Amino acid sequence: MTDIEIQQAQPEDVEVLRKTAIAAKSYWNYPDYLIQQWSQTPIITPDSLHNDIVYAARIGSLIIGWYRLLVRLPAVVLEDLWVLPDYIGKGIGRKLFEHAIEQAQLSGADHLELDADPNAAPFYMRMGCHPVGERISEWGRAIPHMVYDLRIQKTTSDR
Ligand SMILES: CC(C)(COP(=O)(O)OP(=O)(O)OC[C@H]1O[C@@H](n2cnc3c(N)ncnc32)[C@H](O)[C@@H]1OP(=O)(O)O)[C@@H](O)C(=O)NCCC(=O)NCCS
Repeated sequence: MTDIEIQQAQPEDVEVLRKTAIAAKSYWNYPDYLIQQWSQTPIITPDSLHNDIVYAARIGSLIIGWYRLLVRLPAVVLEDLWVLPDYIGKGIGRKLFEHAIEQAQLSGADHLELDADPNAAPFYMRMGCHPVGERISEWGRAIPHMVYDLRIQKTTSDR
């Protein structure tokens, strides 16, 4: 896809980022009550834009995906990565992930970690992440805890 720009998210984007995350999570057909419960949480706040690394992918003025990194040296945590359902499977997740890796490397971290939605784990494996254990999610289920080594020089497009 062309004409995609990845730019730092702005405070006025917060509501759209929230809606994008809810739409993306719903892609996996979870029960409505779980999505509803989660929708009641802040998901992303203006403070987070100040404290964390938050970038959005846009086509023109339309936000089609976004990610958030929490810098917790020596780690960086990929706390969010969401693509709008209409754009899933078109390379946007890869673009955002590779952008996040560059930002994580700039932060001085030696590894990136994340707790993966089980449906997204194959995507993260494809991006070069490795499962190193499990965590219990807010929904009480075991989900993969994954790591990406930032010290390797290869990019995720080296296969
Ligand atoms: C997970 C998510 C971010 C991936 O983004 P995406 O735009 O669909 O992924 P891409 O199209 O960029 O795929 C990148 C690569 O991963 C592979 N991939 C993506 N999803 C895959 C899957 N479920 N199984 C196997 N491979 C997968 C693609 O084939 C592609 O490979 P290639 O670039 O070598 O051809 C997106 O599907 C999404 O937002 N899902 C719903 C919300 C979610 O689960 N977010 C993650 C929370 S932890």
